[in-house]
Amino acid sequence: MRSADYDVWHLPVLVDAVIEYLSIKPGGLYVDLTAGGGGHSRAILEKLGKEGRLLAADRDPEALAVSSERLKGIETNAFFDVIEARFSDFPGWLDTGDIGDIDGLLADLGVSSHQLDTAERGFSYLLDGPLDMRMSPAQGKTAADLIADLRESDLVALLRLYGEEQYAYSIAKSIVKRRAEKPITTTGELVDIVSYAVPSHVRREGNPARLTFQALRMAVNREQEELSHLLQVLPDVMAPGGRVAIISFHSLEDRMVKQAMKRWESPCDCPRDFPVCVCKKKPLGRCLTGKPIVADAAECRGNRRARSAKLRVFEFGEVEV
Ligand SMILES: C[S@@+](CC[C@H](N)C(=O)[O-])C[C@H]1O[C@@H](n2cnc3c(N)ncnc32)[C@H](O)[C@@H]1O
Repeated sequence: MRSADYDVWHLPVLVDAVIEYLSIKPGGLYVDLTAGGGGHSRAILEKLGKEGRLLAADRDPEALAVSSERLKGIETNAFFDVIEARFSDFPGWLDTGDIGDIDGLLADLGVSSHQLDTAERGFSYLLDGPLDMRMSPAQGKTAADLIADLRESDLVALLRLYGEEQYAYSIAKSIVKRRAEKPITTTGELVDIVSYAVPSHVRREGNPARLTFQALRMAVNREQEELSHLLQVLPDVMAPGGRVAIISFHSLEDRMVKQAMKRWESPCDCPRDFPVCVCKKKPLGRCLTGKPIVADAAECRGNRRARSAKLRVFEFGEVEV
């Protein structure tokens, strides 16, 4: 692929901010857990010297093939490797010597443009294809399996939680009615069902299936559980001074990241009315981004995905009090 083709595959968001906040040490160990099209990985690798190392992972083998090809094209003396893995496999695949040594880690959450734009992957409400939506194509239930199996009340809950879908109840009802006639197996069928389930003014405002697709994708890929696992293990794997950068695109995920960083910053769990701390839990580091970093107007104009991106960064290590 030519350089410009990678940007069509997936245009990475907030690259300059990520690189600035990771404050890359040329000889450090860096982990990109969402390699995607390799845009952020490439920017990290370009900052590393011959002692530096980059481990780039993704759960999607197609993404890994592309990022691997891209990284091989970069002139560098640093070591890099690509690993097919989910957040929930992390840090199992690190060498035991790497644990506690990571100087910087990036997670750029959600789906890539390529995943969205490939009809056969079934992520898009704009393209007809099999109702799949799995980021790891060989693992777990598809979106078609999920809507075939879930009880109506669970479908409503899922659409509300992950999609914040106002018409969750009537959409779930329509899905249950249609699946009793025949299995729902394509993205086009689901778009039709949602379109008939919502009021006509919603259809006029844009594609009414957007939030249903977002909710199903998050459930199929267990995105909340994956992030929760990652946030739990991070404090054990980062080096003193190591920085974690997380880009989220969904308010639920941003809240999870914000709360985890708050907990890492102030882990004391003594009752509020205790005059002094008795739990003796010390801060694990400090959050470097009070408010999340967002893309500027120019980036948002050139990349629609950037509009909802929020970057939060945490630095692990002793904090002077
Ligand atoms: C927004 S894209 C990343 C784009 C990448 N930063 C770039 O520069 O091209 C998100 C990627 O993360 C991967 N991904 C999402 N959740 C994951 C998880 N729990 N474990 C591993 N990879 C995940 C997806 O397969 C997708 O390729």
